[in-house]
Amino acid sequence: MENLDWKNLPFGYQKTDYNVRCYYRNNAWGELEVSSSEYINIHMAATALHYGQEAFEGLKAYRGVDGKIRLFRWEENYERLKNSARGVMMAEVTKEVFYNAVVKAVKLNERFIPPHGTGASLYIRPFLFGSGAEVGVKPAEEYMFVVFVTPVGPYFKEGFKPVKIAIEKETDRAAPLGTGNIKVGGNYAASLKAIVRVHKEGYGSPLYLDAKEKRYIDEIGAANFFGIKDNTYVTPKSESILPSITNKSIVQLAEHLGMKVERRPIDVEELSTFEEVGACGTAAVISPIGEICDLTENKSITFCKDGKPGAMSTKIYETLVGIQYGEVEDPFQWTEVID
Ligand SMILES: Cc1ncc(COP(=O)(O)O)c(C=O)c1O
Repeated sequence: MENLDWKNLPFGYQKTDYNVRCYYRNNAWGELEVSSSEYINIHMAATALHYGQEAFEGLKAYRGVDGKIRLFRWEENYERLKNSARGVMMAEVTKEVFYNAVVKAVKLNERFIPPHGTGASLYIRPFLFGSGAEVGVKPAEEYMFVVFVTPVGPYFKEGFKPVKIAIEKETDRAAPLGTGNIKVGGNYAASLKAIVRVHKEGYGSPLYLDAKEKRYIDEIGAANFFGIKDNTYVTPKSESILPSITNKSIVQLAEHLGMKVERRPIDVEELSTFEEVGACGTAAVISPIGEICDLTENKSITFCKDGKPGAMSTKIYETLVGIQYGEVEDPFQWTEVID
């Protein structure tokens, strides 16, 4: 086992031993290749570099209470990568290539999987990009698929503690019929201005509103939004948000825990009526929100007045994390043990 300060790991890149690569050439995926280099040799005219033909995924491997390694809902990440590939006209990775590359990358770097009980996990980053050279705007003929892993701590340095969020009105993350619902690099480029600006003001993430009316809640940084009131879990329905696998899981969990669920547009004016609000995603898990500020109007709404996460968010968080670490029963068969 690697000797790292597991309890204080940032959500950042940490070098591991190996990554796994696969090339798409002549209309077919080749064999998986294992590399110990952190670098990729790329053609200067690759479509990924010029026309944004790139998509990625993010999932985690967890060291369970029983010492076993678990993957969480990897098939959902596979399906989403397939959609992302279709969205920017890239070759689709096969399920076999995806799964084998993920498992290989995890196993080869087993000594970097954080021990159980540290709150850390092994973040897995599969990505796919156009590696073929083109100068005209058209899809590449060659693609590269890579999986690297890195041990991570919590995304928000506060961990499971309320965070401060700022409503973003100056930029749009994604257009209604654009690429907001797939996980392509361009969306993140478009979000950077807002992220940097709100960080400077002391907020954890921007809350994006719909681009058309600037009225409905889209999502928060790299996470989906949820609000809870009257025993109901409410989360946005929008064409321009990424369908979060964490959110999809929480919807099922919330129902399992006896809550009602509503997926519908959420007017920003409705925010103050929620008893609890939060952000959810693989990186963020569940981040309770303590304050949402409208910087343009200098107005803010506060939640978690006692400084603690709400009861429902806590229950959902504990159940979800418990399933991921093999501590509680997994009634939905979301986790897969890899030996
Ligand atoms: C923009 C965006 N929204 C939401 C999410 C959360 O999705 P998931 O729960 O599948 O990680 C992510 C992270 O992948 C994201 O980048």
